[in-house]
Amino acid sequence: MSRHFITVDSVSTKDLATIYERSCAPFDDETLKGQGVALVFEHPSLRTRASSSSAVHELGGYVTFFSDEEIGLDKRESAEDVGRTLSQMFAICALRVRSHQIFERMASATNNEMSLINLLSDAAHPTQAVADVLTIAEHFAHGDVHQLAGLHVAYVGDATNVTRSLSVALLGLGVDVTVAAPDGYQLTKGGPEDPFAIRGGELRLTDSPEDAVRDADVIYTDAWVSMGLEAETAQRRRVFAPYRVDEALVERAKPSTVVLHCLPAHRGDEITDEVLDSAASLVWRQVFHRRSAMLGVLRWIKEGKK
Ligand code: CP
Ligand code: NVA
Repeated sequence: MSRHFITVDSVSTKDLATIYERSCAPFDDETLKGQGVALVFEHPSLRTRASSSSAVHELGGYVTFFSDEEIGLDKRESAEDVGRTLSQMFAICALRVRSHQIFERMASATNNEMSLINLLSDAAHPTQAVADVLTIAEHFAHGDVHQLAGLHVAYVGDATNVTRSLSVALLGLGVDVTVAAPDGYQLTKGGPEDPFAIRGGELRLTDSPEDAVRDADVIYTDAWVSMGLEAETAQRRRVFAPYRVDEALVERAKPSTVVLHCLPAHRGDEITDEVLDSAASLVWRQVFHRRSAMLGVLRWIKEGKK
């Protein structure tokens, strides 16, 4: 059975440790020499496509990109038949999908013979979470992800796919996570990538951004309008206005507090220019570590095939 990376919570603690370790190994191997990785994107992307392509290339492989217009998952052809087709030519397929269920359907249709990597779904963004952990570890613990217990990360805004994977990854490492979100937009229990099922750090929920950031070492935010929710833009901008990460909010945290954002940023909405471009912002290291994370995931997948 091939290894998949579909959610953080579906990977064992030991395997996650391997992924973190392999993420930071030097580019001195040809893990994917001459091998292709299929990239399927139902939504737009900059960082994820760039980091995936770059990581595969660093490991000696090549990517073939398929856009939604070409493949038409469940429109031109069923997700099962797309999976069966790609598995004839690719050992690894990385996908950004509208519906998380696609992964289970493809894995089942291909008898788990093709490794699947989740490059964002409505439920999770696990490669982003690996990059976030690496960024936090680099800043607070000389890169050692096992030395993060006791840190406090405050997430402010919409509890998204990013929030779920981030929370699962951090809680599992003993980091305390507070999510400040308005009623109706908070983390929910159950389903894939469930932070409520993770033992380790403490998970706290609040509707107050000010309370959340008070003792935080890290403030994290994401878009108010995730991909696919564009019809809700006007309402969401109203509801989330008190959750903007601006200088006044950051000043309520410690002077040493750093700011993260998965990007793309909607400057002036969930985060202001002043904060995003401040010395406290680590967003460009986060972007850098998107490739580190892909290297780790790809190496871990290939090690499972030996
Ligand atoms: N953070 C992230 O996934 O960015 P893209 O949507 O540009 O890939
Ligand atoms: N929550 C955002 C993340 C973008 C990287 C979205 O799903 O659009």
